[in-house]
Amino acid sequence: MTITLPVFDQLEDSLWLTLCGRALDNRREDPLLRDELADQIVRTVDYDYGKLKISPSSVIYIAHRALKLDEIARDFVTRHPDAIGLDLGAGLDSRATRIDVPPTVDWYDVDFPDVITARQQLVPARPHVHNHAADLAEPGWLDRIPTDRPAVIVADGLLAFFPLAEWSAILNRIIEHFPSGEIAFNGYSTFAVKAAKVYPGAKAVRAIMRSEGFDDPHTPESWNPKLRLVREILLTREPEIERFPAGLRWANRLSARSESLSRRGNVVLHYRF
Ligand SMILES: C[S@@+](CC[C@H](N)C(=O)[O-])C[C@H]1O[C@@H](n2cnc3c(N)ncnc32)[C@H](O)[C@@H]1O
Repeated sequence: MTITLPVFDQLEDSLWLTLCGRALDNRREDPLLRDELADQIVRTVDYDYGKLKISPSSVIYIAHRALKLDEIARDFVTRHPDAIGLDLGAGLDSRATRIDVPPTVDWYDVDFPDVITARQQLVPARPHVHNHAADLAEPGWLDRIPTDRPAVIVADGLLAFFPLAEWSAILNRIIEHFPSGEIAFNGYSTFAVKAAKVYPGAKAVRAIMRSEGFDDPHTPESWNPKLRLVREILLTREPEIERFPAGLRWANRLSARSESLSRRGNVVLHYRF
């Protein structure tokens, strides 16, 4: 099969960073995520991941946060077999396959039309898993999605691309669309936003960081009265760090002692509405 991918713009190009991170995790001796499909896609397109200069620690952090978002989504669809799942800015991620969404759930992978064209060629189709071409910043993309079912919404590596006013508007539209649900995304502290701007991988894909970041996990509660924090997951304190290579394991154990230090790094924020 010949694969002709669209030419991605700067925003779309960022998907390679996370995809290659998960693929490289899969090539480690003890992969955290075991995302074989990510690895397969990177091999299929013969993507030059070397130019991204993804550090070994970033590979692990990318896989770790994906694992946590998978856990939240899997748990929700297990408790709500009639759920709707949304992966916002899904890129070429195959979360629905990783968590093995039950066929009673309708799952939507949302991204720009060019990314969806690439997904259609590279990510194997599954029943009830839908590719949804849309610009999340435009109102109206939810119109084609059922309104009467509980929903789990995940966004991996997306928040950084939106000023908080735009991000809160997106969350508000989602909260008003569904009767109830849960939302989880990796957070960016004010420090993390500054760090991401000088991160070589982000520079290589010319990523535009537009978020101001926020440090208090309760901040989103002020955007919508229905939104409540379930848990701020500081990844330095999660059990998987025991599987990290020694140096990284020790660095994380040290950071874990301080909440503010942990917040500077890999964080997953989990809310309900
Ligand atoms: C860093 S990538 C992460 C991709 C995927 N979540 C993953 O973990 O591999 C960010 C993704 O968000 C998408 N994106 C950014 N802004 C968007 C918007 N306004 N509407 C739809 N997708 C958007 C990009 O096209 C890209 O695929």
